[in-house]
Amino acid sequence: MNILQKKDIYSVVKISDTKLQKSLTTFDLTMLGIGAIIGTGIFVLTGTGALKAGPGLMFAFILAALACLFAALCYAEFASMVPIAGSAYTYTYTTIGEIFAFIIGWDLALEYMLGVSTVSVGWSGYFQSFLAGFGIHIPAKLTAAPGLMTTGHVEGVFNLPAFLIVMLITFLIAMGIKETKRVNNIMVIVKIAVVVLFICVAIFYVKPDNLAPVLPYGFSGVFTAAATVFFAFIGFDAVSSSTEETINPAKTMPKGIIISLAICTVLYVIVSLIMTGVVPFKMFSHYEDHPVSAVLKYSGQNWISGIIDIGAILGMTTVMLVMLYGQTRVTYAMSKDGLMPGIFSKVSSKTDTPFISTWIFGLISALLGGFVSIETLSEMVNIGTLSAFILVAIAIIVLRKKSPDLERKFKCPAVPIIPIAAVIFCLFLILNLNPVTWVRFGIWLFIGLVVYFTYSQKRSTIKNKTS
Ligand code: ALA
Repeated sequence: MNILQKKDIYSVVKISDTKLQKSLTTFDLTMLGIGAIIGTGIFVLTGTGALKAGPGLMFAFILAALACLFAALCYAEFASMVPIAGSAYTYTYTTIGEIFAFIIGWDLALEYMLGVSTVSVGWSGYFQSFLAGFGIHIPAKLTAAPGLMTTGHVEGVFNLPAFLIVMLITFLIAMGIKETKRVNNIMVIVKIAVVVLFICVAIFYVKPDNLAPVLPYGFSGVFTAAATVFFAFIGFDAVSSSTEETINPAKTMPKGIIISLAICTVLYVIVSLIMTGVVPFKMFSHYEDHPVSAVLKYSGQNWISGIIDIGAILGMTTVMLVMLYGQTRVTYAMSKDGLMPGIFSKVSSKTDTPFISTWIFGLISALLGGFVSIETLSEMVNIGTLSAFILVAIAIIVLRKKSPDLERKFKCPAVPIIPIAAVIFCLFLILNLNPVTWVRFGIWLFIGLVVYFTYSQKRSTIKNKTS
């Protein structure tokens, strides 16, 4: 039994030498990155983060951004070396071995599948706020997961809007409707515009008194908030999957990843500073569903608050599209390698998409969005993504040692310091998640390992080739 068998990186690199048109520039990659990054993290989790860190929320964003920056440099090196299907799954399969690749693929399901659910709950909050602006109210029981109190002090049963939006997204992806560069660019402009609009209006309502003390819960509050708002940065890894279509990826790719991260970090820090400056942070316990637009309502700016609702609704929709698409793509690759059942790589001849797989994941994401709280979901997404980042960073160090001659169009600077920093920062954020999340993650990994040893290991295509 060889659980550490690897795909030959030289052959993977060769196969990936496709004839895709190279047309993406740094600007396009930046737009792609921002399109995948700005979503529920800034529009919803800022409220949760503010309750944990108070005005120190801005430091939480900086800390989470640093963890992402270090991981992003590692991603960029891989993306310039293994420019295929862009996932951390392939990176690890060629370097540290099959079982780790499987675990990464399994972790990425948390990032993408549960990511869709998390964003759907955020979407639902803004959608309800938008409808409320017209005096329309969905029955309270159908607006939140079981056990959660809705604004009308009724216990939730099912989050219907969250469920329905994921079903709609699933339908679009199953039909092969991919977000085009043009739609993405429009959405990015909409997102940035509403965030800037928020900043320009809300800044006039900041009361310096609200910002003191800056750290009401000390640094530990900042750390737990950082582990929560880390979610706001997830998505930059989507950029690395476009290496094949990028002009001069060696320069463009790292620039695209880093610029999109930098722009988002600046926006996030300003928004969180203003939010906690306008509203005394403890009040966010009443505004957790749609905190950004609620801050404007609090300031009496109902119209602008409505515009923010629309921008957030549109912006979060595209994040879900990217994530569900990413999920089907990773499982497709795993299925092709024999690690997951063939059904996940079965492509419908009518739609040219992995139709059944899309509906399976769409339905699971939609149900989770309907039944589980945003806090539980986002913590699972974060732990899954952070673990994947850690494995990618380790893989960079391993590969520098094992295959120093392999062409790297972009080299992560200061190896092994930066990858080690990535590992330490990501581990630190994991430690600041709720211990219940560690247990749930442990169970998820355990199930994964059972699947691996009882199914995947036996059917792995590279094993069957070599034995
Ligand atoms: N970063 C993405 C969001 O905040 C996942 O929605």
